[in-house]
Formats: sequence, structure tokens, C-alpha cells
Amino acid sequence: MILTDYNKLIEYAIKARELSYSPYSGFKVGAALLTKDGEIYTGCNIENASYSETVCAERTSIFSAISKGKRDFVAIAIVGGIDKISDFTYPCGACRQVLAEHCESALEIVLFNGKELKICTLGQFFPCSFNKNQIK
Ligand code: THU
Repeated sequence: MILTDYNKLIEYAIKARELSYSPYSGFKVGAALLTKDGEIYTGCNIENASYSETVCAERTSIFSAISKGKRDFVAIAIVGGIDKISDFTYPCGACRQVLAEHCESALEIVLFNGKELKICTLGQFFPCSFNKNQIK
């Protein structure tokens, strides 16, 4: 997919970020997950006074898609930062593990820092994952 095709996905992630519930960190994250049939499922980070119960934007978006019966994914856009979208926000380890459960290693991870795009695959970010193939 060419870079400009991801403009819409990034716009959705930016919009989702505005809904972030992050009173403790102030760090707002939005994610937008693109399905193979062209639909977009968004998510934001949702924090909790019991900090460990916080859920990241990426997992919110994938759980939303999975709970709607979606199973095939092409790309996920991620934007984050305090006050404004700033540095690239990389998916945390827990989100990489969840993405690896539901997405192929070719899933494109589209990071936007307010100025530039960085696009990598899940396989590049999370090689040698422990996954369902090992539990067969
Ligand atoms: N966060 C995400 O939503 N996604 C990431 O990839 C990294 C971190 C959230 C969790 C927490 O609400 C805040 O960012 C600070 O860690």
C-alpha cells in the first residue's frame, strides 16, 4: 500500500485520540485498525485509578473489531503524545502480543508523530513471538 493511502486511517486515529481517558498520565493515544474489507475500528487508551487496569489504544481498537466479528486486518495507525501528537508512539509489549494473536506478521504498523510517518510490519516489531502455532 502506498503511503498516502493511510491518510484516512491516520485521521481516524487522531480523532480516536481525542476520546482518550488518561487523567493519570495525560498521555493520549489513538489507534485505528483497518480490516481487509476496508472498515476501520478505532480505540483510545483508557486508564484506571488502579493503574495496571489501564488498556492501551491499540488493544481497545482490536477488541472492538474482534467483538464485531472482524478477523482479517491490514494495518493499524497509532498516534500519541501529551498535549499534542509528538514523538512516534510505539506499541507496548502487551499490545504487540495481542496484535500477534490476531494479525499476520505482514500487518503494517503506521506511526504518525504529527509531521512524519513511519511504517513497519508487526513481524519487524515483534519477531520470534510466542504464538498459537506453538500450542498445537
Ligand atoms: N499507551 C497506549 O495507549 N499505547 C501504547 O502503545 C503505549 C502506551 C498508553 C497507556 C497509558 O494510558 C499511557 O499511554 C501512558 O503509558
